[in-house]
Amino acid sequence: MCGIVGYNGKDKNTLRILIDGLKALEYRGYDSAGIAYKNDEINIIKSVGKINELENKIDFNLNTNIGIGHTRWATHGSVNENNSHPHNVGDITIVHNGIIENFNEIKKELTSKGYHFNSTTDTEVACALIDYYYKENKDIKTSLVKFMKKIKGSYALGIMCKDSDTIYSVRKDSPLIIAKNESGNFIASDTIAVSKYADSVMYLDENVIAEITNDKITLFDKDLKEVESNFKSIDKSTNNTDKCGYDHYMLKEIHEQPKVFRDTVSPYLENGIDSLIDKMPDFTKYNRIDIVACGSAYHTGLVGKNLIEEFAQVPVNVEVASEYRYKNNFYDDKTLVIVVSQSGETADTLAALRKAKNDNIDTLAIVNVEGSTMAREADILLKIKAGREIAVATTKAYSAQVAMLSLIALNLASAKGNIDKEEMKVILKDIKELPVKIENTILNSDYKNIAEAIYKNDNIFFIGRGIDYALSMEGSLKLKEISYINSQAYAAGELKHGTISLIEEGTPVIGILTEENLILKTISNIEEVKSRGAITTVITNSDINNNFDYNIKIPKVHKLLQSLLTIIPLQLISYEVAKLRNCNIDQPKNLAKSVTVE
Ligand code: M6R
Repeated sequence: MCGIVGYNGKDKNTLRILIDGLKALEYRGYDSAGIAYKNDEINIIKSVGKINELENKIDFNLNTNIGIGHTRWATHGSVNENNSHPHNVGDITIVHNGIIENFNEIKKELTSKGYHFNSTTDTEVACALIDYYYKENKDIKTSLVKFMKKIKGSYALGIMCKDSDTIYSVRKDSPLIIAKNESGNFIASDTIAVSKYADSVMYLDENVIAEITNDKITLFDKDLKEVESNFKSIDKSTNNTDKCGYDHYMLKEIHEQPKVFRDTVSPYLENGIDSLIDKMPDFTKYNRIDIVACGSAYHTGLVGKNLIEEFAQVPVNVEVASEYRYKNNFYDDKTLVIVVSQSGETADTLAALRKAKNDNIDTLAIVNVEGSTMAREADILLKIKAGREIAVATTKAYSAQVAMLSLIALNLASAKGNIDKEEMKVILKDIKELPVKIENTILNSDYKNIAEAIYKNDNIFFIGRGIDYALSMEGSLKLKEISYINSQAYAAGELKHGTISLIEEGTPVIGILTEENLILKTISNIEEVKSRGAITTVITNSDINNNFDYNIKIPKVHKLLQSLLTIIPLQLISYEVAKLRNCNIDQPKNLAKSVTVE
């Protein structure tokens, strides 16, 4: 989603700093970009498409010490230069991430006061509103206090004013960091945008105004009283953006999964199961768990439900955050709400977390990004160690989330005495050996052959039962998002209740078969589609003798860990299909890495 970067300092190379920052934010997904900088006056340069297009329009010999930049992911109005940021109205120029919900009403008011609008964006209206207050008050901070009172919706803003050499920032429900080094100060949507230059960083709190000059950062609350800043040094090691020889970040991240698994689980298992019980909260006090998330993170919740219900015997309700935040949730003081999010900033998941907290329900966040809003706001944080994930389609963060949910299931099952010593030994052995098994599963060369056989199709189906159905959903999403092939996941037994009418000669159906007691049932369902002409692929941990077109055999491990192997062929088949279709694998069209609007 939109990305913001800004610089105010002694370095005259501001234009390079802005472009480097925008390039580092490309992973978030965008369709146009722009910068504003100041020498005698504020100048704006914009362009549609990739950052290179913008870069080609910039004269880097120009010296300037202050500027803001933006990558836009269109929400209000189509993709064109007029709608791209920065927007300028009167004395004010802004870049914006978020959605101003009451922009129509404000637009009408401002139009009646003589304002004209050149774009169809909510951002231009926000800019005009700040300008209106500024003309009224002649003071930018007072204007921003009024702006925050009036606006409904979400925003992170970088603001420049014609009459001053200061950048201002405010935010609500959209992330924004402030960073600094010896020669200047920065704002950005994400530390990675400035980590090449800055040494320390802080997360801007909501309802705080940041005043950023070339040598000073001052924060003010809504009463314009100064508040303290809290900078931490930037850990540059986590910001490595090298593809390390892989063609795509997605492939690199798939290959990182053995390490990610080890890094995520080993801190909890230093002394076997005892440290797992010690280091995790006491889950036995809850008689219900709600897992709330979006997209792939929601799919990890479905895997978690399966494991927690089977091994710990606690009912788990998994819901999409955009629904959960607005519905009647029948939770009580014995319910734990778990939010799962790679970014820790997804607007709907954050809103669901805040709703539960507001209702005094215990909350736990499984999050990858250190210092993100969910990581800071949840009562309990279980941090996964996936490292920075750059490809928009999640792979290693998905696995790390599944690994953490497996640990929760194991913790709770063991605390309740549901796992005997022998079974525990098997699980701990499997955990130790899993990284190598993940690695070997990645190295299987059959994925390319399967991709060759199916990549020209318009419809592809994934089927499975139990936990394999949850994995089918992730396999199907992965394929859709990076290859743009229409794909559906079905509970295997459900296909014949309607969807089987879509199966014809050559339709690919991928069956997942790891649920021991359900394998024969799913095999029958795959036979049903095969006899109607489907190209059949099975991904299984068992010996299957049926005559299916492709058979991917993965190692069999304890069910608490099996999904971490089953997911690998699904990720790699999608990757190979997208590659054959020449898709932009790391930055699929219309998608954003961090979805910070509703
Ligand atoms: O950052 P989050 O984990 O909260 O993001 C949730 C979804 O937007 C995300 O999983 C999305 O579905 C991915 N593109 C899937 O690959």
